[in-house]
Amino acid sequence: DEAPLHEATVSAPVNIAVIKYWGKRDSKLILPTNSSLSVTLSQDHLRTRTTVRAAAEFSSDRLWLNGVEEDVAASARLCNVIATARQLRAAMEQADSTAPRLSTWGLHVCSENNFPTAAGLASSASGYAALVSALGALFELPQSATELSRVARVGSGSACRSMLGGFVAWQAGTMDDGSDSLAEQVAARAHWPQLQALVLVVSDRKKTVSSTAGMQTTVSTSPLFAERVRSVVPHRMAAMRAAIVARDFATFATLAMQDSNQFHAVCQDTFPPIAYMNDTSHAITSLVHAFNAAVGRVAAAYTYDAGPNAVLFVLRDDMRALVQLLTRCFPRPAAMSADAFYADPFAVFAS
Ligand code: PMV
Repeated sequence: DEAPLHEATVSAPVNIAVIKYWGKRDSKLILPTNSSLSVTLSQDHLRTRTTVRAAAEFSSDRLWLNGVEEDVAASARLCNVIATARQLRAAMEQADSTAPRLSTWGLHVCSENNFPTAAGLASSASGYAALVSALGALFELPQSATELSRVARVGSGSACRSMLGGFVAWQAGTMDDGSDSLAEQVAARAHWPQLQALVLVVSDRKKTVSSTAGMQTTVSTSPLFAERVRSVVPHRMAAMRAAIVARDFATFATLAMQDSNQFHAVCQDTFPPIAYMNDTSHAITSLVHAFNAAVGRVAAAYTYDAGPNAVLFVLRDDMRALVQLLTRCFPRPAAMSADAFYADPFAVFAS
């Protein structure tokens, strides 16, 4: 008889923050200085697919990322995530003496992104969310996605939000052990199907300053950051949540643009300053404002993370007009059909 194969494969999508996480109050547990809120995209275009396999004869944990083996021991965060998932499994095994001792076996992890890694497209978010979801399936953990978001958070802060679909809030929490720093769904994706995301890939090169290094410098040098955490984010979290519940696009879009702008202003206020956006990013920002002025209402929004790529939000009815304007201003591969623009969400490959 063949022994059963202990293996699980799970995909997780990226999420795009509309209220940004930037700054840690605890860098080991990855506890943030402020709450954040994001939209989890669909799995069609930007996702990580991860397979985990456990076997008694695997002498060590090994990981292949996009086909290339990485040194697991060299990543403290990866080791932390695996160790935390194993602890949850070990607790189950203690309660059930017939359960195979998977917590004591080696793991092989195979992970693939269908988009450029570490270019400010949230690859760490989908990556750690897929890993934790796959470990949850392999270990048959009883914890909910919100409970497991605490494990994903230890890998990469923003990853906790990719554990859930739709509109997701990461509550900063107040506990020192991180037990209340977790992701919760504000609304399901189906609550607001008219809302579309448009990913404009400006550059697929790796970012120059990692989010970890950037945040650390920001926290210790930027007076604007302190003011943001104290007096801006709490109000914006509440207003953004209300806008989503009410499907109020103009408010949602205005808050998203303002919060992205403040995040990049905080980066500029960091010493030495950090510049994630480039000339193309700024041109896209101007174009969105010109579009809104031309239609006489807030019909589109932009947001940028730790890189130059733009994510635009627009309602389905305004998509065609926005895409027409974008394609007139920025070239894209001729192979992309106009129909692709109505997929949800999708990528436009700009200059
Ligand atoms: O989770 P990290 O360490 O990759 O940080 C991500 C930070 C931003 O993407 C810039 C903002 C966010 O909330 O996702």
